Amino acid sequence: MILSVFFFGLVTTATASTSAVQPFRIDLAKGIPHLELLVNNTRLPKNALYPGAGSEFGVQLDFLRDLKSQWVGGYNWTEQEAELNQFAQYTTIIEGQTVHFVHEKSENKDAIPLLLLHGWPGSFQEFLPVIKPLTQSWTSPTGENVSYNVIVPSLPGFLFSSPPPQNWTNADTARLFNTLITDVLGYPTYALHGTDWGAGVGYDLYKSYNATVRAAHFAFLPFSPPTPQDIADNNITLSEIAKVTLQRTVDWTTTGDSYFTEQTFKPNDIGLALYDNPVGQLAWIGGLIKLWSDPRAGTGPSALTHTAILTATSLYYLTESFQSAVWIYAQNAGAFADVYTKPATDAPMFFSLFEYNILLWPREYVAKVGNLVSYKEHDFGGHFAGIDNPPALIEDLREMGVYLK
Ligand SMILES: *[C@@H]1O[C@H](CO)[C@@H](O)[C@H](O)[C@H]1NC(C)=O
Ligand SMILES: *[C@@H]1O[C@H](CO)[C@@H](O)[C@H](O)[C@H]1NC(C)=O
Ligand SMILES: *[C@@H]1O[C@H](CO)[C@@H](O)[C@H](O)[C@H]1NC(C)=O
Ligand SMILES: *[C@@H]1O[C@H](CO)[C@@H](O)[C@H](O)[C@H]1NC(C)=O
Ligand SMILES: *[C@@H]1O[C@H](CO)[C@@H](O)[C@H](O)[C@H]1NC(C)=O
Ligand SMILES: *[C@@H]1O[C@H](CO)[C@@H](O)[C@H](O)[C@H]1NC(C)=O
Repeated sequence: MILSVFFFGLVTTATASTSAVQPFRIDLAKGIPHLELLVNNTRLPKNALYPGAGSEFGVQLDFLRDLKSQWVGGYNWTEQEAELNQFAQYTTIIEGQTVHFVHEKSENKDAIPLLLLHGWPGSFQEFLPVIKPLTQSWTSPTGENVSYNVIVPSLPGFLFSSPPPQNWTNADTARLFNTLITDVLGYPTYALHGTDWGAGVGYDLYKSYNATVRAAHFAFLPFSPPTPQDIADNNITLSEIAKVTLQRTVDWTTTGDSYFTEQTFKPNDIGLALYDNPVGQLAWIGGLIKLWSDPRAGTGPSALTHTAILTATSLYYLTESFQSAVWIYAQNAGAFADVYTKPATDAPMFFSLFEYNILLWPREYVAKVGNLVSYKEHDFGGHFAGIDNPPALIEDLREMGVYLK
């Protein structure tokens, strides 16, 4: 009897490869005593070995020491968890995998579904400052009212989404998320925003699901960015903002991609070395979050405080997903395409450049890979725009909505 009721529910609410949606709340407090014990017992050097060695040599000791002491002396997980739980979260099972997602709905009946796609070392947390504002109504200069139903899934292997099979790629994640939006949540069409690996997944969605993805916004692309020489050879003139991003690109491609090589080829080395090492994860993740953000991060409009960096790290540590998350690099080796091609879609594409992002794609390059209708430059913010310049990302995503009216 119980079994038949169960099957009845399954059949009426979902297709064969998907199951019903379950409400979800974060409840990780039981991991905190162990985290604190490890953090308290982790030693750091008293003084920097080479005080002149800057962040091009890796994480700065002062920064690590400050955050380590805040973690056990001035950080309250219970409060952070309560803030995260102010967002409506769910899990569902698609193709045998647990998928965790935020789903915040607008009060407006004509709200547009918007999929926000994070990367590494991010999570749904990096979008929290933009989610609720995007559900609210905004009137464009031409009188269109735009509001969104916002869906923010955790990538497979990240936080509360289960680790995928070893051969899983971004194309598989794209299929999974398209199923989530259309079959599970019942939205026939949607818009998306992607950054970092989320741009890889989002671009795959833009390319391969042209009937359902009707607009796409990116702050990052899965194409090798041009070198300064390429830019000069093509007679492209850069703005002052883009010149800063180009220098960041040179830095990233010369020494800044060492983590990328590590995680692509030996994900188990770093994944297991830091598996139960919160201060190690803080050095590896927190150092990059800081490096990839605006130097003014934490001051308005940036919401990227030290507390936010500790929450980002706590989420990976407490969910024991550090190792499975770094595997995304090995699973998508060669994710940056060298050849720029335009996919078969009539959906518009939007791009926002944030000055302190780590890679630069000038407008001329972005226009090669989609139906580019808007390319905007912001003189504040870095790689995690949703938290490092939320007002600008909100504005740009709202402008995308006008095209869907
Ligand atoms: C860690 O240190 C903090 C601050 O000294 C202290 O409040 C806390 O009880 C310690 N936690 C553990 C698990 O030792
Ligand atoms: C953490 O915050 C919760 C909720 O506000 C509070 O009940 C608790 O006492 C705080 N813990 C510490 C150690 O301050
Ligand atoms: C937008 O919303 C306002 C206030 O609710 C309303 O007066 C207006 O007619 C709406 N515009 C469109 C184009 O629906
Ligand atoms: C990936 O591995 C699974 C078994 O784990 C297999 O069923 C599937 O065909 C493989 N996919 C590819 C593309 O090799
Ligand atoms: C760039 O400008 C130079 C000098 O005007 C010209 O010879 C060259 O063909 C231009 N290159 C491109 C790719 O347009
Ligand atoms: C969508 O993609 C299909 C191939 O999958 C293609 O035949 C079709 O022309 C595309 N639609 C548009 C509007 O480009």
